[in-house]
Amino acid sequence: MDSVCLVLLFASLAGLSLGVEFTGSPGQWARYSRWEAGSDRAGDLSFRFRTDLAAALLLYLDDGGYCDFLQVSLAGGRLRLRFSVDCYEAGSELGAGLNDSRWHAVTLSARGLRAVVTLDGEARAAEVRPRRQHMRIVSDLFVGGIPGDIRRTALTCPSAQEEPPFRGRLEQLRYGASAPAMLGSRHVLLPQEGSCADDNPCEHDGSCSLVEGATTCDCTNTGYTGRYCSEGKLPDAHPLVFVRLIKIIPCKLSIVLHSNLHLNSRK
Ligand SMILES: *[C@@H]1O[C@H](CO)[C@@H](O)[C@H](O)[C@H]1NC(C)=O
Repeated sequence: MDSVCLVLLFASLAGLSLGVEFTGSPGQWARYSRWEAGSDRAGDLSFRFRTDLAAALLLYLDDGGYCDFLQVSLAGGRLRLRFSVDCYEAGSELGAGLNDSRWHAVTLSARGLRAVVTLDGEARAAEVRPRRQHMRIVSDLFVGGIPGDIRRTALTCPSAQEEPPFRGRLEQLRYGASAPAMLGSRHVLLPQEGSCADDNPCEHDGSCSLVEGATTCDCTNTGYTGRYCSEGKLPDAHPLVFVRLIKIIPCKLSIVLHSNLHLNSRK
């Protein structure tokens, strides 16, 4: 294997299993292979992050500027999910004070017309009722920012490009059980290696070990559960709050016109 291969291999391993340090510099972005949001084979998207910013872009993906998008960001220290199918938009917010520089775990499930976001074990769902029955995603997944050379018209939600870049660490990005490939990045620092000594993610004295280059926690005898031994006993009688529709400002004003045009032209 020559050195170019090694560098590529290293870069993709780093993007896969290990954490990425986001500097928060203007123009920052990281790009991962597409997450098939809305499809049954997609698997849940999960990751954990820690930051001191109350407002920042975490994730963005869309259908190339038509109607569908999905955005996860921090706003006022809360986690905000916004998504749209066939130009019908919905969203949900949860958590508070997430700019506390502690680890927070996020899982996102988007099947059909419903998206469920889970933050540190608490779940919220949002649903849209468009004519088309599934989300359409063609872009890669952008994390921490969107490249400035992507034209605004190619983004369903161009305002995502102006969200503050994420600053802090984001790691354990997974689609289902597998880690997506990192396709490129700017102003982010790829780690040397996952290390229990340098960056032990396990809480409550869970024991840390390296499995395939990723830190993994064994929570035996800690009394806690979860990937990082951070979750207490799972709440029993705690139903999910489903279909909490929040009416929010349309992603872009023109989207309404846009939507009609598309609905008509699809006939
Ligand atoms: C989080 O952000 C808010 C402003 O949105 C600020 O008032 C608060 O002090 C921040 N918390 C921490 C721990 O930095």
